[in-house]
Formats: sequence, structure tokens, C-alpha cells
Amino acid sequence: MKRLTIIGILFAFVFYYIQSQAQETDTKGKEIFIEAKCNTCHALSSQQIEAKSKAQKDKAGDISEMKIEFETDFLIKYLKKEVEINKKKHPVAFKGSDEDLKILVDFIKQNAKREGEENKDTQQNTEGQK
Ligand code: HEC
Repeated sequence: MKRLTIIGILFAFVFYYIQSQAQETDTKGKEIFIEAKCNTCHALSSQQIEAKSKAQKDKAGDISEMKIEFETDFLIKYLKKEVEINKKKHPVAFKGSDEDLKILVDFIKQNAKREGEENKDTQQNTEGQK
């Protein structure tokens, strides 16, 4: 029984730690997202962020509705315009630090749709998959 209690407490700590990390990524990520003007084109409805440009909004899409299937490293390169998704580079390159870009990508992954239905097309047309 004692052992179980200890394991329980450990789990609680790990859970708390993960939660607080996620919280921090959300706060910082949101700041960077807005600073980098990602919200000109992308909405992020789970964080109550609206896209500013009506013309761009439909093309770029709501990040909360995206099912991001790419590795963090790949998305970092994508947002630096070093790699393509569906044969297209991202329209703009991120201009901040690598550190901020990592937080931004973690934030996006955290706020995008979770795995559900597979999108076979994207999977076949792109490198950088798992
Ligand atoms: C000028 C408008 C514009 C801006 C600004 C912009 N994006 Fe995009 N973004 C797009 C378009 C257009 C696409 C391509 C959508 C498509 O092809 O489905 C895209 C695609 C993406 C994707 C693709 C995900 C996927 O799995 O296909 C991510 C992630 C993304 N943008 C994140 C960002 C981030 C983060 C920023 C801020 C640094 C940003 N975007 C700024 C227009 C923009």
C-alpha cells in the first residue's frame, strides 16, 4: 500500500509538472504568435484569436482546426521557409529567434487538433513525416 501511495504522489507531481509546462507554452506561445503576426492570416479559435485579414483567413486556416501531422523540427524548418508542405513553402518566414520559434511550434502543436482521421494525401506528398 505504501508503495502505491508513493507512486501516486509521484504521478501527481509529474502530472502537475506537465500541466504547468503546457500552461507556460500557451502563455508564451500566444504572445509570440501575436508578435510574429501569425494572426494576420491564421485564426486560433481555441485561444480566442481571430484572423485579421479577411482575404487571407480562408486560405491560411484556423490553427485550432488543423490536424498538424508534422514533427516539430520539420515545422520549424517550414516556418523558416526551408521546406515545403504539399510542394509549397509557407508564405512568410518567421523572423524571431530559434528559441521563440520552438515555443511557437510547441504552442501550435498543443493547440491544433489531436490525432483523429488520417489525412493520407498530405502524408504521401511530404517529407518530414515520422
Ligand atoms: C500571409 C499570411 C500568413 C501568415 C502571416 C502566416 N501564415 Fe501560416 N499559412 C498561410 C497559408 C496560406 C498556409 C497554407 C495553408 C494550406 O496550404 O493549407 C499556411 C500554413 C501554415 C501551417 C501549415 C500546417 C500544415 O500542417 O499544413 C502552419 C503550422 C502555419 N501556417 C503557421 C503559421 C505561423 C506560426 C505563423 C506566424 C509566424 C504563420 N503561419 C503566419 C498563411 C500565413
